[in-house]
Amino acid sequence: MIRLDKYLADMGVGTRSEAKRLIRQGKVTADGAAVKSPEYRIDETSACVRVEGNEISYIKYEYYMLNKPAGVVSATEDPKEKTVLELITGRKHKGLFPVGRLDKDTEGLLLITNDGALAHRLLSPKKHVDKTYYARVKGLVTKETVRQFSAGMDIGKGREERTMPAKLRIIQAGEISEVRLVIQEGKYHQVKRMFQAVGMEVLYLKREAFGGISLDEALPPGGARRLTKEELGLLNGRETDGDAERHGRDYI
Ligand code: URA
Repeated sequence: MIRLDKYLADMGVGTRSEAKRLIRQGKVTADGAAVKSPEYRIDETSACVRVEGNEISYIKYEYYMLNKPAGVVSATEDPKEKTVLELITGRKHKGLFPVGRLDKDTEGLLLITNDGALAHRLLSPKKHVDKTYYARVKGLVTKETVRQFSAGMDIGKGREERTMPAKLRIIQAGEISEVRLVIQEGKYHQVKRMFQAVGMEVLYLKREAFGGISLDEALPPGGARRLTKEELGLLNGRETDGDAERHGRDYI
C-alpha cells in the first residue's frame, strides 16, 4: 500500500507537489472514484489509477541494459561529468542506479535498475556471477599469462589483494594482444590491475556479458533498452535456487 501522491510521482506523472495538486484538483481517480486527498493509500499492485481519464499503471522495478560508451561515468549524478543515468530515457523511477561500475573509459554492458536486492546479489563475489570482458592489451599474452590468471594473483599495492581464479582466452597474441577474460568479482579497476600485475597495459576494455546476459550488439554505444523477461529470468535464475522470495515480483 502506498500513498496516491507517491504512486503518481514514482510513475513520473510529476513531482510530488505536482501530483498533490492534480489530486486536490479532483483530476485523479482510484478504482473509478475521485480521490482528493494525496495521502489516500492504495494497493499499487491492483488499483486502477487514472489521471484525467488516462490509466497510470504502477511499475515497481525497472531494468535496463546500457551499452556504455567511453567518456561517461557510472554514477547517478556528477557535478561535471555526464552520467550513465542520463542515457536512460523514458525511465519512470527516480531511484535508478547502475549495478556496479565500469571505468569512464570502459565500454559495454551495464545494467541499470532500482532493484537493490538483485543488484546486491549480482555484485556479491560469493555468488560467482560471471563478468566477461574483451580487452586489447599492450604486451604478448602467452600460456603462462593464462596460467597466472587462472591461479589468481596479487593485485594489491603494498598490502596483498588476491584475485579469484579467472579464465583468460587468447584471441590474438602479439605486441598488442586481444583477449577475452571472465572474472567473478569486481574489485576496483580489476582487469587493468590484473594486466598491470603481469607487466601489461589495457588499451581498450569492453564488457560483453554479465550474469548470463550478453550485450545486445544492436545497441549502439550510448544506447539502452529494457531487459526482456527472458534476460531477467537469466539474472533471477542464477539467484533463485532455493530462494522463493523473489518469485512473483513485478518487473518489466
Ligand atoms: N575492470 C577494470 O579495470 N575496469 C572496468 O571498467 C571494469 C573492470
